[in-house]
Amino acid sequence: MQSTETRIAWITGGGSGIGRALSLRLARDGWQVAVSGRRQAALLETVTLAGADVHAYPLDVSDLGAVRETAARIEKQLGPVDLAVLNAGFGQFVNLNNLRAETFAAHMQVNYLGVVNPIDALLASFRRRRSGHIVIVASVAGYRGMPRILAYGPTKAALINLAESLYLDLKREGIRLSICNPGFVKTPMTADNHGPMPFLMDLDKAADALYRGIRKNKFEITFPWQLVSLLKVFRCLPYWIYFPIMRKFTGR
Ligand SMILES: NC(=O)c1ccc[n+]([C@@H]2O[C@H](COP(=O)([O-])OP(=O)(O)OC[C@H]3O[C@@H](n4cnc5c(N)ncnc54)[C@H](OP(=O)(O)O)[C@@H]3O)[C@@H](O)[C@H]2O)c1
Repeated sequence: MQSTETRIAWITGGGSGIGRALSLRLARDGWQVAVSGRRQAALLETVTLAGADVHAYPLDVSDLGAVRETAARIEKQLGPVDLAVLNAGFGQFVNLNNLRAETFAAHMQVNYLGVVNPIDALLASFRRRRSGHIVIVASVAGYRGMPRILAYGPTKAALINLAESLYLDLKREGIRLSICNPGFVKTPMTADNHGPMPFLMDLDKAADALYRGIRKNKFEITFPWQLVSLLKVFRCLPYWIYFPIMRKFTGR
């Protein structure tokens, strides 16, 4: 896919979890990787684990001005970005007792606009070069509405819709776009989830699957296949079948 002289990646949320594991995977394969996140210490840990080829660019992805400035700095210091993995995100459980609009706004700011902002920041450079690959990390949680993820799920559904909406226009300009929809992966994000996590996936295996999908230039990259297959069936069910199944699964 990439030519050998252009292997610069920018990964948001690179200080932990999937972003860190993918950064290490890319660095092992000869990429120069810029990692972003808010916690500098976490980014520096990724840098230390990887060695010379990973570089820390601390950033809050919800701050458009800072995102534009950081994208420009990465391209100036490392070279034109070939691969942007827009992976930063978080999720809080919400139910009727703690439903607050501020929680929804915060999820949208980070999970949705935190993806739109880097696309804005990189688009001119990608279009000028008629190349580049954007990978949006969404989730199978975006396939259908589910209890407890009232604030998180809609941000991931919005990302899937965004990717579908952007794909053809970007393709015409030589820019590749992928949407990654993981099931449960063992990361700091799932560490506090004490509910059932069917087919919970090992982090390194998840990073390998993501990297494989990127290299194959797939539009949708999913893992683990067992949970994804099940949820893809759920996605097609009419409501009169879907809601009773959800009630059974979630004990509602
Ligand atoms: N683990 C799963 O089961 C699973 C399943 C489906 C989808 N996903 C998605 O995969 C992505 C990575 O999650 P993960 O599981 O690897 O969890 P994680 O270890 O918590 O990683 C999330 C990363 O996002 C960064 N981040 C959060 N808010 C940010 C902000 N405002 N600006 C910049 N960076 C920010 C965090 O760094 P800082 O705190 O330092 O900013 C952190 O490094 C997320 O988008 C998540 O929704 C995960």
